[in-house]
Amino acid sequence: MDKIKIIGGNALNGKIYISGAKNAALPLVCAALLSEEPVTLQNVPALSDITFLNSLLQYMGMKISESEELHDGYRSKTYTYQADNITALVAPYDFVRKMRASYYVLGPLLARFKHAELSLPGGCAIGARPIDIHLTSLEQMGATIEIKNGYVVADAPNGLKGAHVIFHKASVGATCNILMAATLAEGTTRIENAAKEPEIANLIDLLNAMGAKITGRDTSILTIEGVKKLHKATIAVVPDRIEAGSYAIAAAITKGRIELINAQAEHLQQPLRTLEKMGLDVETTDKSIIIDGRNKTICGEDIYTDYYPGFPTDLQAQFMALMTVAEGASLVTESIWENRFMHVPELCRMGANINIHGHASAIVRGVKKLSGAPVMATDLRASFALVLAGLAAEGETIVNRVYHLDRGYEKLEEKLKAVGANIERIKEED
Ligand code: UD1
Repeated sequence: MDKIKIIGGNALNGKIYISGAKNAALPLVCAALLSEEPVTLQNVPALSDITFLNSLLQYMGMKISESEELHDGYRSKTYTYQADNITALVAPYDFVRKMRASYYVLGPLLARFKHAELSLPGGCAIGARPIDIHLTSLEQMGATIEIKNGYVVADAPNGLKGAHVIFHKASVGATCNILMAATLAEGTTRIENAAKEPEIANLIDLLNAMGAKITGRDTSILTIEGVKKLHKATIAVVPDRIEAGSYAIAAAITKGRIELINAQAEHLQQPLRTLEKMGLDVETTDKSIIIDGRNKTICGEDIYTDYYPGFPTDLQAQFMALMTVAEGASLVTESIWENRFMHVPELCRMGANINIHGHASAIVRGVKKLSGAPVMATDLRASFALVLAGLAAEGETIVNRVYHLDRGYEKLEEKLKAVGANIERIKEED
């Protein structure tokens, strides 16, 4: 398994292009199942999660063609998907256990083909991660759902029907799944307490471009008037706000200056405000964000993760890495996932001073310096937090389990090297 070796201490300066968002691309890819006509996605990040989802869709019979294009000055992938000969209506265990987002096939398959089978995803490193909201909403739309041999078996022999569904939590995944299902349902569906993440707006834009009738974009009440068929469309994946936030912290923690090209500040309001409160200079334009940490004293600050537009849970670990070297104390409260402090013991091995209280709060008391160490994390964002700590630490840090990073950070070493990091991948045979 590959490792990443970092020699810390370099201030990072320069420009980093922000890629398309993984969490936007995943549902967009699955939306292609809703039509027999081609759906083209531009600015798709080159990530293992995407190639993995592509392989699931190919298993189902999806035709996929791939090219590279310049998008906003950055070379990225364009994929065209055509679902005119879907032969398997099942997402098998071997796919779903490796990537939970495979559950995005459920809504589209059921809506278009009236049947779907999905291996139940189970929990993961950051929490139990139930999918009850997805399933009860589909039931309200007329589907019958059975759990058999670890699989969700969903049927809607007469097609899905519009319904009024109220989510008990503003789930991103359920919002995407039910949106996609409702586009081809008979009648009108109304989703209350829908998630409002920018990745959902991206999906709504694609679905509407395909002929769906969805209103309420960017609000918590979405109304979908079902249509008989969807047609071809092209859309670009929105820039990845979590990747942008992660590299913003790379500038902050190394006291450098990085311009994040193509980053959208409006999607990062809470994290950027937090960086300002911590003492960083933040400058925004409509096409980039500049984070300047040169000659700044970084101070502790509290964060509370919440549904968008609240502070993103997917930036909690990276901010905690910054807090470890800030002056004073910071309180981190994680309200979305019940088990998202797995990076804490690893940061402490590098010299951080962090105390966890209960399962939702951690107090970070800033230290003068971290020191390099071999470390590993159990999830994607926690792994990036360890990269950040390594960039700031004295000496050598080896981050193990790099496959987590490859799921969500395109060209990680290349991007960090270009701004002056001493980082390299050590290739190892399994
Ligand atoms: C998505 C993101 C993930 C991010 C999360 C929260 C993708 C591929 N992943 O995950 O990176 O951390 O949003 O911003 O986009 N819940 C239920 N029942 C359900 C579904 C969710 O109780 O049926 C709960 C979860 O346990 C959690 C909360 O709702 O406490 C939010 O989960 P959700 O928004 O669904 O997260 P994901 O879509 O899985």
